Amino acid sequence: MANVTVIGAQWGDEGKGKIVDWLASRADAVVRFQGGHNAGHTLVVGDTTYKLSLLPSGIVTGTLSIVGNGVVLDPWALKAEIEKLEGQGVSITNDNFAVADNCALILPLHRDLDGLRETAAGAGKIGTTGRGIGPAYEDKVGRRAIRVCDLAHLDSLEPQLDRLCAHHDALRAGFGQPAVDRAALLEELREIAPYVLQYAQPVWKRLKKVRKAGARILFEGAQGVLLDVDHGTYPFVTSSNTVSGTAAAGSGLGPGSTGFVLGIVKAYTTRVGSGPFPTELSDDTGQRLGERGHEFGTVTGRKRRCGWFDAVLVRQSCAISGVTGIALTKLDVLDGFDTVKICTGYRLHGKIMDYFPSHSADQAAVEPIYEEMEGWRETTAGARSWADLPAQAIKYVQRVQELIETPVALISTSPERDDTILVRDPFLD
Ligand code: GDP
Ligand code: IMO
Ligand code: MG
Repeated sequence: MANVTVIGAQWGDEGKGKIVDWLASRADAVVRFQGGHNAGHTLVVGDTTYKLSLLPSGIVTGTLSIVGNGVVLDPWALKAEIEKLEGQGVSITNDNFAVADNCALILPLHRDLDGLRETAAGAGKIGTTGRGIGPAYEDKVGRRAIRVCDLAHLDSLEPQLDRLCAHHDALRAGFGQPAVDRAALLEELREIAPYVLQYAQPVWKRLKKVRKAGARILFEGAQGVLLDVDHGTYPFVTSSNTVSGTAAAGSGLGPGSTGFVLGIVKAYTTRVGSGPFPTELSDDTGQRLGERGHEFGTVTGRKRRCGWFDAVLVRQSCAISGVTGIALTKLDVLDGFDTVKICTGYRLHGKIMDYFPSHSADQAAVEPIYEEMEGWRETTAGARSWADLPAQAIKYVQRVQELIETPVALISTSPERDDTILVRDPFLD
């Protein structure tokens, strides 16, 4: 049986949550493998809307949901999100939910540092979600993180706190902030520890068992390839690898486990936060895309920047991340445009480019070359089969897959779970 790895192929918010929720009923486990509660995934099921940041989107269908070791975990955000979902009638127990005991924690001092740095960065501001993601990953790699398993050994935390505070106190002093209040931090950790520990376990072991039983695993990526710390629009990126290969390392399975890589691709382009965006539209068309697509961030409520579909970027993301097929989402947002445009290449200092360069100054300087197509008057909203799509919309989808050199496996035509066209089942080998 094939596994499926879902990743965002643009700058996040492509509709990963909706697609993971739709696929989850056919999976035996859903696993988050990177990022943290910087993610914001909106799921619409009938009259109910669920907003998830840290929990895998499989939790809503009751599918075994796992937070893998590659995630940075804010224990207080975890508790708040579980309580919010329980309030919406979702059952979360240690039968259907587990957290890797080797996850690095996001602490209040990480959130502080994220904010202090952003405020001090002036024009170099990244526009982070302010959740402490970057500082938490830095501490993990710097070998001074407190991890989930440490919550069971708080009486012997002193040497780790020494190492952590030696680093943070110096940084905080530079920002004119008081040293870390170690007693208060320890007290907060003591208070939250039992809550987190009830779900904590070596999840690689649980996943090994799931794999042995021949079950299907759905890996749920957060953010998108263009926010990947290596492959994205550095430094305007998040602090984790968002590409498909991370699914294995971030959950404790081998590289062969990722299976079908499903790249989630919005039918146009959006981005939140700072950084280059070649097809960005600051005119009425951009405004119209944002309004029709309700493009406001799930986590921070910020207005998302909008523009036409950029085939160069998506072709690059698909290549870098080994995408087997894409799910094209929000096609309905393009309904009613007289014409639609697709970026097929760039011009940089008079030269034609067929890829997105690595340097941020070049990324900011490229000018998109567009191909214009006739739009469609009819609605695609709610379409559930190819036959429901107007001819021009089908032409658009076909042109997209041709330009990105990757086939379309799914098409999404509304926020609602079942408004999805299945072209090729990613779970079938
Ligand atoms: P994610 O971060 O990739 O999970 O995406 P978000 O949930 O942050 O943003 C996608 C938004 O678009 C959500 O509000 C979804 O409910 C909505 N959405 C998903 N698919 C479609 C679609 O096909 N059409 C429309 N109109 N909205 C969609
Ligand atoms: P989902 O999973 C869109 C962006 C932030 C900022 C940059 C770094 O919903 O697609 P961070 O807080 O991670 O250090 O911020 O990354 N960002 C996202 N943009 N969707 C997301 O997640 C994002 N998570 C982070 O806006 O530009
Ligand atoms: Mg989102």
